[in-house]
Amino acid sequence: MTIKVFRQNFNERLASVYPTAEIDSLFFQLMEHVLNIGRAEIILNVNTELNQDVQNDVVQFMNRLEKKEPIQYIIGQTSFAGIPIHVNHHVLIPRPETESLVYWIKSREPDDLAILDICSGSGCIAFALEDHINAKVTAWDISNKALTVAKQTAASIGSNVSFSQVDILKHTQTQDRWDVIVSNPPYVLEEEKPQIHANVLEYEPHLALFTLREDPIQFYRAVVQFAALHLSPGGRLYFELNPNTAKAVISLLKTTDFVDIVVENDMQNQARMLVAKTKK
Ligand SMILES: C[S@@+](CC[C@H](N)C(=O)[O-])C[C@H]1O[C@@H](n2cnc3c(N)ncnc32)[C@H](O)[C@@H]1O
Repeated sequence: MTIKVFRQNFNERLASVYPTAEIDSLFFQLMEHVLNIGRAEIILNVNTELNQDVQNDVVQFMNRLEKKEPIQYIIGQTSFAGIPIHVNHHVLIPRPETESLVYWIKSREPDDLAILDICSGSGCIAFALEDHINAKVTAWDISNKALTVAKQTAASIGSNVSFSQVDILKHTQTQDRWDVIVSNPPYVLEEEKPQIHANVLEYEPHLALFTLREDPIQFYRAVVQFAALHLSPGGRLYFELNPNTAKAVISLLKTTDFVDIVVENDMQNQARMLVAKTKK
């Protein structure tokens, strides 16, 4: 089978599942991954025969795409703020909102800071801050499986981010202090479940997505309590927010002696990022 014939099969199989523009994009991402060549080269070589191993792989991948599995899990990687990040079912696929958070932090903070990323998942925030502002980054997550994925990325990009398994809901003792603490904790509410795409619910880790019905801001509270004790004087705490619980998080910060609270909206004009300072 040539690349051209496979493309025809691919278009036909996925026509009822994805819009045409997305099918094109998926086709090229898949071919770039399996053939390890760029889009232009694929187009120039459409009459090239795919060898049997490649054919087996692409047909399997096409079957998974047909079941709406995210392409990032199929090819095992994605790009975040220009950095190639490993992903599998144990980590959330980094979202554009989180990239915005990183660029917002970059626009506000100097280079060479000590930064702690709580609930680090794939490590996307940690790697991006290390790369973009030369930060010395520590990253914590409860999931050993997520930490394994993050450490694979660290090895492949030569990162010095220091990863540890920490449950932020349990008391964590350390003498360390940081200039900046950042967290994108689980924040999806039970009642938001019906609005979440089926493929997110089916393929992404629920540990990374959902918070408790009885205490929707429990992760924010735990991070705020930890940050109040472990940020250096004048240190900054950054959060990615759920717009539906943003007000509750702001009230929490006000009662915990944080000052200079700034909220930034996302592209849908929803409260999505927040920074607050400890007193000097
Ligand atoms: C929304 S994901 C964020 C992942 C990554 N920072 C990002 O922005 O894509 C939340 C992460 O919190 C982790 N997590 C859940 N409960 C935790 C806990 N009690 N302590 C520490 N991390 C936790 C999950 O394993 C998941 O990786």
